Amino acid sequence: MSDGIMEREASSMASVYWKRPLVITRGSGASLWDSDGNEYVDCTSNYGVAITGHCHPRVVEAIKAQSERLLSCHGTFYNEARSEFLERLTELTPSGLGRSFLSNSGTEAVEFALKVARRSTGKPGIIAMMGGFHGKTMGALSATWNKKYRAPFEPLVPGFKHVPFGNLERVEEAMDGDTAAVITEPIQGESGINLPPEGFLAGLRDICDDKDVLLIVDEIQTGLGRTGKMFAFEHVGIEPDVLCLAKAVASGLPMGVTMAGESVMSSLKMGDHSSTFGGGPVACAAACATIDVIRDEGLPERTHELGARLMDGLRALVERYRIVREARGMGLMVGVELRFDVLNVIMGALDRGVLVLDAGRNVVRLLPPLVIDGEQVDRVVSVLDEVLGEEEAARVRR
Ligand SMILES: Cc1ncc(COP(=O)(O)O)c(C=O)c1O
Repeated sequence: MSDGIMEREASSMASVYWKRPLVITRGSGASLWDSDGNEYVDCTSNYGVAITGHCHPRVVEAIKAQSERLLSCHGTFYNEARSEFLERLTELTPSGLGRSFLSNSGTEAVEFALKVARRSTGKPGIIAMMGGFHGKTMGALSATWNKKYRAPFEPLVPGFKHVPFGNLERVEEAMDGDTAAVITEPIQGESGINLPPEGFLAGLRDICDDKDVLLIVDEIQTGLGRTGKMFAFEHVGIEPDVLCLAKAVASGLPMGVTMAGESVMSSLKMGDHSSTFGGGPVACAAACATIDVIRDEGLPERTHELGARLMDGLRALVERYRIVREARGMGLMVGVELRFDVLNVIMGALDRGVLVLDAGRNVVRLLPPLVIDGEQVDRVVSVLDEVLGEEEAARVRR
């Protein structure tokens, strides 16, 4: 029933995505349906976006109401939906992050963070983490680690150094009089759900304070409740100087946010940066509703509980199968590391009605909407159990 949809996309879209053979037509909560009417438990949230579930009624209602009033409103005018969203953001985040720049994606949120760090310190140097992922536009790509993404587009922006994620000594060694900022994810998502060693983020905070260097925390994947707290930095009691958000902020409409304090933001002069679509009223209305849903439905707390249920199930699979090396994560940001490429497992799960992501070559990544229910979590575990069982048996036979 895909009526040429796949063929048309495959033949006319830039071929930069690895396409799964599915036409997704509808979503509700943690379920997606394809064009043949098959239902899937979604453990992708479309790469971490659909945090409140697909088509949450309150988000849909907010979008409908705003789109009947006004679709676009440039940042050079004031707007009610935007000011409401900014107010909610400020309530949600530490008081030191009182000013925001609104854009349309994660990579743009990072671009702005890098520019404001250079502007406010007057220095060019950025220290990023090995394994880090911050986006694919030229500035953000310069902070991203993976050679596969970087090499074809060199030369990238000068002034970036990469140090091992988790190694405070190497961070300190890399700092010099030219260092403006350190940028890190609290948990590395794209490169395999890598948690830092205990004390790393707090140690980074201390070093940055000592050396008068800005700490940019990229919560584009971890933010808005995904790890069981509104922001992952709350688990370790630190506050960033600059915070990047995107993905989940508007439950599916494009929205990037970079937050910082007055002293950092005031370094920017009028015209230093802008975005035609950034902070548009429909995205802002969706973002207000998203924050309301996260709070009113207690999604971070729910994530904590359901994440524990998922992790218990996955740890049993680590015990059961030799091909599974480890299950790790926080809240509903979970990775299952295998001893080989995960492609067969992703496709096997899809065939049985569960959609999962990869992270790196050998990690199955699970980022379900935070409204997933206990039964769906159990179904995900039992499907992975089946798929891994088959895969292990096939590998023994080979
Ligand atoms: C931590 C992190 N930063 C930045 C980005 C880039 O976001 P976008 O794809 O919206 O540009 C991503 C996307 O996966 C991400 O996970």
